[in-house]
Amino acid sequence: MNDSGRLRRRLAEQLVRDGVLRSPLLRAAVEAVPREVFLRPGVFLDGGDVWKPVVAGGTDPGEWLEIAYRRDTLTTQLDGYLSADQVDGPVAGVPTSSSTTPDTVVGMIEHLEVEPGRRVLEIGTGTGYSAALLCHCLGEDDVTTVEVDPDVAKRADDALETAGFSTWTVTGDGLLGHPRNAPYDRVIATCAVRRIPHSWVRQTRPGGIILSTVGSWPYGTGLAKVIVDADGNAEGRIIGRSSFMQARAQAVVPVAGDLSARTAHADSERETEVPPTLLEEWMPAFLAQLAAPGAQFVRATRSDGTRLRYLFDPARESFAGFGARGDDGWTVRQGGPVALWDRVEEALTAWLAAGSPEIEAVRLRVTQDAHLYWIDGTPALRWRHRLV
Ligand SMILES: C[S@@+](CC[C@H](N)C(=O)[O-])C[C@H]1O[C@@H](n2cnc3c(N)ncnc32)[C@H](O)[C@@H]1O
Repeated sequence: MNDSGRLRRRLAEQLVRDGVLRSPLLRAAVEAVPREVFLRPGVFLDGGDVWKPVVAGGTDPGEWLEIAYRRDTLTTQLDGYLSADQVDGPVAGVPTSSSTTPDTVVGMIEHLEVEPGRRVLEIGTGTGYSAALLCHCLGEDDVTTVEVDPDVAKRADDALETAGFSTWTVTGDGLLGHPRNAPYDRVIATCAVRRIPHSWVRQTRPGGIILSTVGSWPYGTGLAKVIVDADGNAEGRIIGRSSFMQARAQAVVPVAGDLSARTAHADSERETEVPPTLLEEWMPAFLAQLAAPGAQFVRATRSDGTRLRYLFDPARESFAGFGARGDDGWTVRQGGPVALWDRVEEALTAWLAAGSPEIEAVRLRVTQDAHLYWIDGTPALRWRHRLV
């Protein structure tokens, strides 16, 4: 561990220099917690189309530490089961657990406004590194961390013990919180959720803070920071862009199969007023998820090079299919009970008319039966998502 002390101090210095790390309490944690301990048995490095396994035991110690202190997200599990020690060479797969880049973890803990005496619930233990930082700041008794994957949870628990933190590690679905240790002063989710579960609000004291990435697209998601009130509601805003792997129970099943067959029978066809390619940008993508919750944006290219774009909402059996007319705009064909593009286009048009405010302009209120999102001063940019 002594070997990594210099690298930890360097990491802390870099994070301070870049304005990510501000509090002395958290700086002490970054300087003390050895990230390499939390990456065992190994990580998968991004090799383009494949993931290259690097196992702690089989790697030169200096090289291993160099990897551990990169300001990168380091993937530790693929496809919900595979760890780096289980493969001999590069593999394809989808990351399902990781040690999030220190920039994000430290930045989020700063936003969480932790101080000794506060009790924290973390959703998405992953490697346990962020839980260890929280334990260093608050003490191990005031941190509860929930991980849905039993193998990941076991490895994190072992690593936390090795690093000297006997904290509350829980294996279970974090969307339910962990009522046994409630009430909490802070809830932090290091996975993305479609909406903030009301269980988190119920388990948080009035004045407490909930911090979570909301949305379900791989981009176009926002970091919500809400404060719980005495009536069991929570209100706040989106404080910035944020990207995390989705909570497992809410993982999006990609729309697959013959897309032209799925969109063969449309109810209407017209020209679009704004191009669907706007949805490739972060804030329009965030707005689209507010206007048409449940919709997915799918991009495809025909063998002749024609660009195709779709919105699908499988649960509502609805679609919008877009066709480019050369340089001359787009047409949209819509089918199913929900005219997805009508809703999204209305939001995008109002957003453009309002001067294209950034994601930080979005406010939200979480109640027991609904989520309300809005942008001040623009009545057209207001959505109520009912839960019941
Ligand atoms: C990006 S990783 C967490 C990073 C972690 N905080 C760290 O510092 O290493 C996200 C984790 O959330 C977990 N997860 C996904 N859905 C969950 C759920 N419903 N409840 C609890 N954990 C969940 C995943 O298994 C994964 O380990």
